[in-house]
Amino acid sequence: MNIAKILQSQPDNGLITIKGWVKTRRDSKKISFIEVNDGSCLANLQVIAEDILPNYEEQIQHLSAGCSIKVTGHLTSSPAKGQNVELHATAIKIYGWAPPEDYPLQKKRHSFEFLRTIPHLRPRTNSLGAMTRIRSKLSFAVHHFFNQHDFVQVHTPIITTSDCEGAGEMFTVTALDLTKPETIKEGLFHHDFFGRQAGLTVSGQLEAEAYALALGKVYTFGPTFRAENSNTSRHLAEFWMIEPEMAFCDLTQNITMAEQLLKSLISYVITNCAKDLELFNRFIEKGLSDKLENIIKNDFDRITYSEAITELTKSGRPFNFPVEWGADLQSEHERFLTEEVFNGPLVVTDYPKTIKPFYMRQNDDHKTVAAMDILFPGIGEIVGGSQREERYEQLAVRMDEMKINREDYKWYLDLRRYGSAPHAGFGLGFERLVQFVTGISNIRDVIPFPRTPRSAAGD
Ligand code: 4AD
Ligand code: MG
Repeated sequence: MNIAKILQSQPDNGLITIKGWVKTRRDSKKISFIEVNDGSCLANLQVIAEDILPNYEEQIQHLSAGCSIKVTGHLTSSPAKGQNVELHATAIKIYGWAPPEDYPLQKKRHSFEFLRTIPHLRPRTNSLGAMTRIRSKLSFAVHHFFNQHDFVQVHTPIITTSDCEGAGEMFTVTALDLTKPETIKEGLFHHDFFGRQAGLTVSGQLEAEAYALALGKVYTFGPTFRAENSNTSRHLAEFWMIEPEMAFCDLTQNITMAEQLLKSLISYVITNCAKDLELFNRFIEKGLSDKLENIIKNDFDRITYSEAITELTKSGRPFNFPVEWGADLQSEHERFLTEEVFNGPLVVTDYPKTIKPFYMRQNDDHKTVAAMDILFPGIGEIVGGSQREERYEQLAVRMDEMKINREDYKWYLDLRRYGSAPHAGFGLGFERLVQFVTGISNIRDVIPFPRTPRSAAGD
């Protein structure tokens, strides 16, 4: 039984065994009180060890934070405040010591910045432990949601030759030895493993489209990679994305699906991670619980990009980045709109085609595309999606305009030649969702081993 289950059980004086790591030890006369955590929940189990135990003086009295132990004992009701049960040890075995003189995690609260320097040990802290459990529940909730809505999960490839977002941010995957100068010769990738340049996927969307146009409703949920040189609190070079793709679906239905998904995920966490959320509500973001409840209760506001530009211009705010029709919305603009104008989630639609990828469906004005971004307070863009261009001619011309080689995307164009159909989808950034749900401000603290520019070591 893990500690989460034990803490919910009735003390019956029965003999049980737990295994975990010591959080603290406190001695009082002939007794030691040891707080043990096994990662199954935020709370520790209090272990009472008396000096009659054979290894009391030699070992138990030397236990410190980080030691791993096995305790066998009787579970009894606890007279202490804040806990129902405690474990009266009949035997304690020590698996591993953690010398207090150099164990980096001491009892005090450590900053997220410091913890980032020890990514291999930080999961042992309350905050990273709670974040990791919430992240896991959210991941389960994603599959649960799509399963309930009859979506089929598709494992799209991680190695691909398609640069979905067309931003030139793909990491190249090569088997060539680039440290040898003679390798670098004409037609470099022709000699490479795949016979052409391949890279790590920036999005599973294009491949998901192929499956949506066969199975109707599909989704992919996997790691994506971007060699984007942005050192911000919202960007990672390796992040996870949830991408549903739906045949016979337009932009409005797409938005509705995204809104339903977000509400469902947040409500799943509220129901299933109450104790862990409470930690974040108390120590990381005051008012977090109310913020999450409000997301579930209210409809998301919807405006067009053009209306957003009007709203920003009207505000008279001195933004760092200029506000003009045709320029992309920057984080400061997104946050102003969600945090000050709408005070909640906001769906922005119909962006200029010049700032969006080639696959988005052109609107009748020939200037905008059927795009939608969902902006969240404190986060900015959390979802990016669109209705896809299902018309062969329009797509081919747009690719030409954007200097995308038709030959390279022949398979993608084929989807428009054979049984094409209106379809739409979106991408939800998983880490940004975990940030929103926990209130953790830096994206590096919501993924186990963050990868950012000049930082991939340490695990
Ligand atoms: O807006 P993006 O670039 O959209 C796509 O990739 C589409 N192919 C999705 C689709 O329609 N199927 O990315 C989608 C979301 C963003 O809204 C953001 O939440 C997250 O992915 N995201 C990142 N998260 C962390 N680090 C980065 N560098 C991210 N780039 C995007
Ligand atoms: Mg986007």
